[in-house]
Amino acid sequence: MKKPDHQILVIFGASGDLTRRKLIPALYELYRQNLLPGNFAVLGASRSEMSDDEFRKKMYEFLPEGEVRKEFGKFLYYQTMDTEGPNDYLLLKDRLDQLDQKLNTEGNYIFYLSTPPSLYDIIPKHLYNAGLANHDTGFRRLIVEKPFGTSYGSARNLNVQLLNYFDESQIYRIDHYLGKETVQNMLVMRFANSIFEPLWNHNYIHRVEITSAESLGVEGRGGYYDNSGAIRDMVQNHLLQLVGFIAMEPPGVIEADAIRNETLKVFQALRPIRENMVEKCVIRGQYTASTIKGEKVPGYRDEKGVPDLSRAETYVAMKFFIDNWRWAGVPFYIRTGKKLPTRVTEVVVHFKHVPHHLFSGSHGYQPVDNQLIIRIQPDEGILLKAGMKIPGAGFNLQTVNMDFHYSGLADTHLPSAYERLLLDCMQGDATLYTRGDAVEEAWKFIQPILNAWEENPEIPVYGYPAGSWGPDVADDLVTGGTWRYPCKNLSDDGLFCEL
Ligand code: BG6
Repeated sequence: MKKPDHQILVIFGASGDLTRRKLIPALYELYRQNLLPGNFAVLGASRSEMSDDEFRKKMYEFLPEGEVRKEFGKFLYYQTMDTEGPNDYLLLKDRLDQLDQKLNTEGNYIFYLSTPPSLYDIIPKHLYNAGLANHDTGFRRLIVEKPFGTSYGSARNLNVQLLNYFDESQIYRIDHYLGKETVQNMLVMRFANSIFEPLWNHNYIHRVEITSAESLGVEGRGGYYDNSGAIRDMVQNHLLQLVGFIAMEPPGVIEADAIRNETLKVFQALRPIRENMVEKCVIRGQYTASTIKGEKVPGYRDEKGVPDLSRAETYVAMKFFIDNWRWAGVPFYIRTGKKLPTRVTEVVVHFKHVPHHLFSGSHGYQPVDNQLIIRIQPDEGILLKAGMKIPGAGFNLQTVNMDFHYSGLADTHLPSAYERLLLDCMQGDATLYTRGDAVEEAWKFIQPILNAWEENPEIPVYGYPAGSWGPDVADDLVTGGTWRYPCKNLSDDGLFCEL
């Protein structure tokens, strides 16, 4: 693989959690695989006073000890600065000039906003005023972490602000779900095989279900989460991006704009959920205290930073349609929540039953629910469920599993989402980053739900015991079937389930 051009990666918010836990380990892994640019530096920037060496030590926390860590550490530098005011950007510019000359990085800079969202329009403005957004003499790219706004209006404002200082082609909005290997594999599965795509429409598909369950709670992020809730935290971004990949038309080429045009069209075709339909089509829930594996666990309202009477949803299940030729009449179901029985993200495509029923056993007609399960995490892989004959007299059927697990591929390193996305940005490939118009379109779909909840407090927030699969009423959403209740291992079913 071609190495990225020489460059410096500036991380704002470098003393925060994301940098230490995700970004630095991803860069370390890229280093180990010899994928970093030939001349390269990471310049951490934030308010905390630290020397380069102190920064290196802090960043080592999530890296394995040893020689490689030491070698990698040489790429790390740090600049103390006040990112809110304009003054320190001249300091930053000087530091970048020095590093650029010393390391020969050809004036190529990436700026990563790993800061609170309140700085998303401030930092780009100061970068622009200091001449650091100008890409005449080297590339200048801006990576923005979610959340991109907290409503349709604020997302539009944020885009307007960003575009005041950087061109759309310089802006990389990160949605780490698109960096997951298995999410990208959905495109390969659909568009490199001739056997799925002919069935991939309303003629053969009965419904599509997406589950993203987490067993963890809010883990000390109560303050953030309470203003966000599951719909902003997971649905508006990660889960709708998955819908985009499952539902899109084949792009002409695998290139950023071709793919992003197709996901945008999916979002544009989402049938709006009118405010008076929200109660019926969108179920929200919040976990309550319970006992999991003999251990008492607190409810959401007992978590740090969460108000006693919080009505933030830690669970959402919803039903919606995509009004286009391919998906006419096919319901899509999304479900996500914290403190569910296990951590699993998967897409389940349920196919229609055969048109004429030939096989009936002792209990009458035995319909086969053909399902294709695309497991995003964990136990990444694909599972196809098909009906087969039980050996012996008559025609009795049984559903069997045909499965592929990534773990079966010897010597394959599954890159983390951040590894893949950082490398892509270093190479100037925005395919797996979201474009401003698509972000706005996704918000447009979510906004009526937020409005309905805000204006109609009588729409229930159902309690569900931590460790359960969420409120029972979510089962009533699904017409003509039930949710799949997944286990940790992709092909575990029925009686055998490790959680
Ligand atoms: C983040 C959310 O974007 O995604 C978290 O803010 C959530 O609340 C996380 O836990 C889930 O990501 P993953 O990769 O663990 O599925």
